[in-house]
Amino acid sequence: MQLREHTTQISNVLVIGSGGSGLRAAIAAKMSGLAVTVLGKRSRGDVHTVLAAGGINAALANLDPDSWQQHFADTYLEGYGIAEPRVVELMAKESPDLVREIDGWGANFAKLDNGKIDQRFFGAHTYRRTCYSGDYTGRSILLALLSKADELKIPIHDSQYVTELLISDRTCFGAMSFNIHSGERTVHLADAVVLAAGGHTRIWRKSSSRRNENTGDGFYLGLKAGCELTDMEMVQFHPTGMVLPEEIAGTLVTEAVRGEGGLLINGNGDRFMKNYDPERQELSTRDRVAIANYTEIMEGRGTANGGVYLDISHRDKDFILEKLPRIYRQFLDAQMVDISKEPMEVAPTSHYSMGGLVVSPDEHWTGVEGLYAAGEVTGGLHGANRLGGNSLAEILIFGKRAGLAASDRSKHLGAQVRSQDAIQAAHNKIDSFIKKGDEMARPLQHELRNIMWEHCGVVRDQEKLNEGLAKLVALKETTKDLDVRLDSEGCEDLVHAFDLEASIMCAEATILSALERRESRGAHQRSDFPEISPSEKVNYRINLGDDATLAVSRRVIEPLREELQKIVDGTAEINSFEGKLLE
Ligand code: FUM
Repeated sequence: MQLREHTTQISNVLVIGSGGSGLRAAIAAKMSGLAVTVLGKRSRGDVHTVLAAGGINAALANLDPDSWQQHFADTYLEGYGIAEPRVVELMAKESPDLVREIDGWGANFAKLDNGKIDQRFFGAHTYRRTCYSGDYTGRSILLALLSKADELKIPIHDSQYVTELLISDRTCFGAMSFNIHSGERTVHLADAVVLAAGGHTRIWRKSSSRRNENTGDGFYLGLKAGCELTDMEMVQFHPTGMVLPEEIAGTLVTEAVRGEGGLLINGNGDRFMKNYDPERQELSTRDRVAIANYTEIMEGRGTANGGVYLDISHRDKDFILEKLPRIYRQFLDAQMVDISKEPMEVAPTSHYSMGGLVVSPDEHWTGVEGLYAAGEVTGGLHGANRLGGNSLAEILIFGKRAGLAASDRSKHLGAQVRSQDAIQAAHNKIDSFIKKGDEMARPLQHELRNIMWEHCGVVRDQEKLNEGLAKLVALKETTKDLDVRLDSEGCEDLVHAFDLEASIMCAEATILSALERRESRGAHQRSDFPEISPSEKVNYRINLGDDATLAVSRRVIEPLREELQKIVDGTAEINSFEGKLLE
C-alpha cells in the first residue's frame, strides 16, 4: 500500500484544541508524567477562550453565603432539568479549588480588600459567584494556562487542522492533521486522545465567535469517529451582541455589563425586562433575556438599527474602565461610542453550543476507546440554558478530568492497535477535496449562516425548520463542485472545505433535533409549541449511521439521586459558609 507523504509524531496523550480545556487536559497529563502534544488550528493565545469575558463561577462564598449545593441547584434548575446531574455536581463541587489554582498560576482575578477573590453578580445566580479579571477573564485564564504549559515544556503546535480521528476497531489511536500554511501532513499517534475543539456557533449569521472558529469541526470529528451528540437544538443565543457595524454584528457585549448595573431599554425608552422577569429583570437567565430582546425588536419596539439599548452610562467612567475596560474600548473603536455617555445597541447573537458529544460524567470518555473530550465540544452540563460563567469553570474541571482519564488509559495500555488503512483513508479524504470546481466554499459558508439564522434561529417552527433542512440538502449538493487549490497563499480553501462539510453536518444535526423537540424549553423556542411539555423532559441524541446519514434518538432522563433532589427541592440542610451538607 502506498501512503501519501506525512511525518509521524508520537505521544502518550494527544490533545486536539489549544483553548482552555485542551491546555488544562494537557497540563494534567504532563503532570502525571506523560508525553503530551497539543494541536491548535489558530495561534496559541488567540483561541476561542480569549472571547470569554465576564467571569468564572465558583461557590467560594467570599461575599455571600454560597455553597456548592446552591451552585448545583441554580445550574440544574435553570438548565430546565435536562442537564446531566453528575456533571453539574462535579462542576459545582470542584470549581472553587480549580479557580484558586488558576488564580495562583497567574490568572490574577480581581481581589477584595481582604485579599480574597472578588465575585460579581451574573444572571440567575442566587449569589455573587462569578470571579473575574475585568471583562477579559478568558484571556487571563488562557495566559495562566499557557505559562503553566510552557513551564512544563508542553509542545503546542499551531496552525494544525485536524481532518480525522484515526480509528481502528472502535479505538482511537491518533489523528491526521495538515499545516494550514504549508499543507504538510502529520500522522499523530497516541495512546489516548482528548478532543477539545469547541462548538458550532459560527454557523449562524450573527455569532459571538470570529471567522473560522466554532465551525463544528469538533462535533464532526467525533461523529465520524463513532461518538453520539446530545442536545444539539440547545444553542445559546446571548442576549447582547453588537448590532453595528454589520461586519462584526454579533460580537459579544459581556453579561458583566448587566452584572455591574447595565439596564436594558427599548426604543420607546421603557426598561422592558420588568414585563418578562419582574424580580430579576436584567439579571434574569440568558434564554429569558434573549427572548425579551428578540420580542421587543420583532414587535417594533427596538432601535432604528434593529436592537435594544443597553445602558451603563449612569455609572462613573472610572468604574466602567475598571470593570469593563474591553467593552469600553470595543465600542469606542468600532462605533466611536463612549459608553460612559451613551447607551450601546445590542441584539441576540449565537454564543454557545450547550449540546455536544455524549461523555461519561467523571472521565469525559466518549464511548470510543481511547477518546476523551472536554469543553464546549461536550454536552451535559448546561441542559437547555447555560448560566453565564459556567463555561470557564467547565473547561478547567473537565479539561483536567479528561486529561487524567486519558493519562490513566495510557499508563495501563498493554498494546495499541493501529491501522494503515485508517491512515490511508484519512489521506484519501484530504485528496478528495483538492480539485477544480465551480463553487468556492466561502460564499457557501455565508449561505449556510443565513439558512441557520432564518430557519433555526432564536424562535423556530416546524415549517421554517423543514424549509431549512431542504435548503441544507441543496447546499450539500452544491459542495460537490467545490474548487479547492493549494497555492502560495496556503491551504485556506482546504480548511474551508473541511469546515463547510463539518458545519453542514452540525447544522443538519441541530435542525433534526430542533424538529424532534416539540415544545419550548430554555434556548429552544418553538412558536408552534410555545409551552414547556413534561413529556419532553428528555435528551435528543444524534449519531451518524454507516450510510452516512444522521439519526435522532430519544433518551429518557433518570430521576435525580435523593441527595440531589433534596438540594433542588430546597430541603437539604446546608452549612452555607462551609459549602458542606450538615449530615
Ligand atoms: O457575557 C459573558 O461575559 C459571557 C460569559 C459566558 O458565556 O460564560
